[in-house]
Amino acid sequence: MKNLIVATRNKGKILEINALLAGLVDQVSSAADFADFPETVEDGATFEENALKKAREASRFSGLPALADDSGLVVDALEGRPGVFSARYAGVGASDTANNERLLRECQSVPKEHRQAAFVCVLAFVTPDGVEQLFTGRVTGRILFEARGEAGFGYDPLFLVDGFERSMAELGLAEKNAVSHRAQAFNKFREYIKTMK
Ligand code: IMP
Repeated sequence: MKNLIVATRNKGKILEINALLAGLVDQVSSAADFADFPETVEDGATFEENALKKAREASRFSGLPALADDSGLVVDALEGRPGVFSARYAGVGASDTANNERLLRECQSVPKEHRQAAFVCVLAFVTPDGVEQLFTGRVTGRILFEARGEAGFGYDPLFLVDGFERSMAELGLAEKNAVSHRAQAFNKFREYIKTMK
């Protein structure tokens, strides 16, 4: 595929997505490349709704095939919160640190054996000629009692990845991209694009 626009300004995500699309797309641009890129209101009740809305607006704006991911952390003991509110759990424009502090507070009284959670990523692919496809990835783990690790972004330092004795922030980019929710959704997208060629 020649050109693709990724509908995010999140530097952490752009870094991961560029690595995940390596060899598949000649030129990847992102919302960060345009000063006037439209700000999508993420008011959907599900990751699917938000991802589709972002991809549709990005494709309309750029005239290019667009990819948008909506992702977040789903904590069992919190009835699925923060979910679609992951980016603004501690308020609109909240920092990762503030969101992580809120998560730790909400999970304060949840014992180790009930701290199951998952990172979920829904990827929407929309083209100017009307193609719309969704791809979902999910990685399970447990919420830690304190932050561990320096890599990644968002809730990574508080998420102990199942099957690893390390938090998501203790895995480097390459290891994270081998297991993450985003990587799984992108792998499905890669397979799909190959069949389109
Ligand atoms: P989105 O940009 O609306 O998809 O919001 C995603 C939010 O979910 C981010 O701001 C993070 O708080 C959280 N999140 C999503 N993916 C990850 C990840 O890979 N690591 C850590 N936090 C993530």
